Amino acid sequence: MPTVYVPSPFPAREVERLRTAGHDVRERRDGTPPRNADAWICLLSDRVDASIMDGIPGLRILANVAVGYENIDVDAAMQRDVIVTNTPDVLTESTADLTFGLILGVLRHVVEADRAVRSGIFPVWGLDQPLIGADAYGRTLGIFGLGRIGTAVARRGHLGFRMPVIYVNQGRNVAAEEQLGAEHVSFEELLVCSDVLCIHAPLTDETRHRFGRDAFARMKPSAVLINVARGPLVDEAALVDALRNGEIAGAGLDVFEDEPVVHPGLLEMTDRVVLTPHIGSATRETRDAMAALAVDNVLAVLGGQPPLTLVRRS
Ligand code: GLV
Repeated sequence: MPTVYVPSPFPAREVERLRTAGHDVRERRDGTPPRNADAWICLLSDRVDASIMDGIPGLRILANVAVGYENIDVDAAMQRDVIVTNTPDVLTESTADLTFGLILGVLRHVVEADRAVRSGIFPVWGLDQPLIGADAYGRTLGIFGLGRIGTAVARRGHLGFRMPVIYVNQGRNVAAEEQLGAEHVSFEELLVCSDVLCIHAPLTDETRHRFGRDAFARMKPSAVLINVARGPLVDEAALVDALRNGEIAGAGLDVFEDEPVVHPGLLEMTDRVVLTPHIGSATRETRDAMAALAVDNVLAVLGGQPPLTLVRRS
């Protein structure tokens, strides 16, 4: 009977599907890597490198419950004939929703406003009053990485908020250009022209610290930076300085360089900066769909079929 390790907790419905297919399902209750696993449904917090794979000789599939997979050494997996899968598509819309939550949260001071009301401060309505923000409507939306999630954000911006969309991507996104009027620009133009700059690219050697001191110096002082991708794309120390010096106006961050540690300079900034703890895909529907897709991949591979969402290379 093939053994499948799943994270704990794991939806009972998915455990049942695996058991019905004849698999021995074991929930991992601690951080130690599984032993004797045929399949391992793993999380971003599981660092799976070559030595860990060598400790699980019968491993056939690593089904990562995330669209990103920088926690897995994909080259080492390929060398060992271990299939790696991820969970794209099912989390696109919820992550794009959170992106807009952060955009509006920063531009309209939603968190500060909530804090004010709770502490008994209800500013008198006036033409110039505390908590005056800036419109999202009609502002230029810059997107770094116009893949699935970036495109879903562009769609919200274009259709819902009438935002002109500019983007940087490895290749052209012709569909987004035709349907959303998205304009492919240079990195320099993206920095200089964006009112709201959203990061939706994967973490690679090329994208690490792409947003650092030089980048912030080029941005508009009124611009806000939103990162719902991976923390290390942003140099957090440089971001703190840029916010302090007024080089940019605000930031909405769902991911951090050294999660779960957050730069103390960001924690100190209680206005203009909204911080959420990596909850881009954290809706009930989406997390259930992610677990189901990981199980679909395991059932396919252990059943001798090709996986649904194969990760091809690192
Ligand atoms: C979450 O960050 C994911 O990659 O799915």
